[in-house]
Amino acid sequence: MNEVILELKDIHKSFGKNNIHRGINLTLHKGESLGLLGGSGTGKSVLLRSVIGLERIDKGEILFSGERIDNLSENLLTPYRIKISYSFQSGALFDSINVFENIAYPLFEHTKFSYNQIRDKVAEMLKLIDLEGKEELMPSDLSGGMQKRVGMARAMILNPEIILYDEPTAGLDPANTLNVISLMQKLKQKGLASIFVTHDIPSAIMLCDRIVVLHEGKIAFNDTPQKFQASEDPIVKKFITSAKD
Ligand SMILES: Nc1ncnc2c1ncn2[C@@H]1O[C@H](COP(=O)(O)OP(=O)(O)OP(=O)(O)O)[C@@H](O)[C@H]1O
Ligand SMILES: [Mg+2]
Repeated sequence: MNEVILELKDIHKSFGKNNIHRGINLTLHKGESLGLLGGSGTGKSVLLRSVIGLERIDKGEILFSGERIDNLSENLLTPYRIKISYSFQSGALFDSINVFENIAYPLFEHTKFSYNQIRDKVAEMLKLIDLEGKEELMPSDLSGGMQKRVGMARAMILNPEIILYDEPTAGLDPANTLNVISLMQKLKQKGLASIFVTHDIPSAIMLCDRIVVLHEGKIAFNDTPQKFQASEDPIVKKFITSAKD
């Protein structure tokens, strides 16, 4: 097994009386893709947001390559937000700027690359997401699936080590879902580790090395997709059945 790149230790998080996370322990290894499943409102998005400090945990520790990051200030978190990229549920493109500017944005923000270097890097990303030559299009010219892929290209452009996907295929038709999944597969082949939050169990099984189920604030299941499918655990069985509805 590869070395651990991300470790969550005994994470607790409440909003008022709503105890969302009640002792979450989870490790992610280099290059591994982990599917994070669970009913609506179980705290999947809050967990992803906590990893990059958009949400602050109440108790526990988050370690990136052995270094504690949950207690860092916003400034000190910036380099980790480059190493751990977060791909928003909505794609979150800027509507008023074109595809090139959307993908290039983190490079302008965080690097001193020349314009030509940025142009080449964006062209390379567009090739990867199968939108070669589409620099000038506006987000409104793109299908939902294309917008998601552009959002993923932006999330990838600073060469992160981990990518956190929050429901990247939600709301997509089957063809666009397949396009997004195949892009995720390509990124996985490049050695990128990921946490894939989804309600789409077949996609998680297809893509992930490990499946984790969040239930009542804890990890109720953590094993291979094969074991997940064959599980006799009543929580897992109930979850699989309800997800088919
Ligand atoms: N900023 C916040 N303030 C108060 N409560 C919040 C906040 N963010 C999330 N919650 C609550 O925390 C719980 C978990 O939310 P979260 O968005 O993580 O669920 P989820 O598992 O991602 O659900 P879904 O599958 O529907 O996206 C919900 O009850 C939600 O209402
Ligand atoms: Mg969510």
